[in-house]
Amino acid sequence: MDTQALRERWLAAVAAAADSAALADAEARLFGPKGEVVDLVRSVTSLPKEARPAFGKAANALKQEVEAAVAARREQFAAAAMVRELDGGAFDPTEPGVRAPRGTLHPITIVQNELVDLFTSLGFQWQDGPEVESEFFNFDALNIPGDHPARESQDTFWLTDKNLLRTHTSPVQVRTLQRAVKQGFQPPLKVIVPGRVFRSETVDRTHEHTFYQMEGLVVDRAHGDSGISIANLIHTMKTCLRVVLERDVQVRLRPGFFPFVEPGFELDVNCPFCKGQGCPVCKQSGWIEILPCGMVHPNVLRAGGLDPEEFVGFAFGMGLQRVVMLRYGIDDIRQFMGGDHRFLAQFPEVSR
Ligand code: PHE
Repeated sequence: MDTQALRERWLAAVAAAADSAALADAEARLFGPKGEVVDLVRSVTSLPKEARPAFGKAANALKQEVEAAVAARREQFAAAAMVRELDGGAFDPTEPGVRAPRGTLHPITIVQNELVDLFTSLGFQWQDGPEVESEFFNFDALNIPGDHPARESQDTFWLTDKNLLRTHTSPVQVRTLQRAVKQGFQPPLKVIVPGRVFRSETVDRTHEHTFYQMEGLVVDRAHGDSGISIANLIHTMKTCLRVVLERDVQVRLRPGFFPFVEPGFELDVNCPFCKGQGCPVCKQSGWIEILPCGMVHPNVLRAGGLDPEEFVGFAFGMGLQRVVMLRYGIDDIRQFMGGDHRFLAQFPEVSR
């Protein structure tokens, strides 16, 4: 068999294919089920045994050569197609690429990160505490005795063995004090406790069963230069609200009752929506209640292992949802846990 003649004919057939459709036809004729190349390779079985190895080798080499020629021709067509596309203006290399979708930070995370940055820059340390808390730390140690109505005002999810889902981040106050005292208390102590808290509430646009707070606690010596007063508390709160609400704020204190602070306050900011003129959001008062705070009650210092004659402190408990709602003008608290992507995607991708 004259493989040389076959070789020339086949390579010529590949070279003659004028476009990729013609190339596909040629390929089918050569390599299809009844293709010529396939036939040649198969014909080895009809030869006498001695002739088979040499013929088989030559046939396979030829097959590979023709295959390579087909592949090379196909590449040529692809390259030519790309050049045509580029020349035809279908591809504009100056057009911006398609941006891959990226996740966004949850608005509570954004505000919490900012607050943590701010407070750590002021020398506060981040403390964690357990979400499953004991009755002792959640209530007793915070000067809330068993028959105290404050226990009912914080509708508690009770678990077994006097454990509960913490109703606020305040239990971490006493935990922190006890730990600090055990380690040889070195005033001043300044901590923040961002965390999740739980209350058995009927959920509506202003109530959730799961929400986020950020507790703050500062304790220092009562006497000498370091004595802490309500002025320090107000200053700290104003600094922090200015940062998270992104504007200059006015604050006012009203008396507020919490058994673990004395005196206790409700701190209000001037309403961002009406600039103090009165609107539905601030119920026409010009002020919005934003965070409860106060001077740490002597019994709480005692529960933490400190002598209230020697030490003073202030504490605050910020409801993060509330701050986020004010900052972004969100009017339904259920949005936070709702998982609606259209809501979440409105917030910036990167916060720091
Ligand atoms: N723990 C209180 C609450 O959740 C808030 C609070 C914290 C009040 C610290 C005063 C001081 O309602």
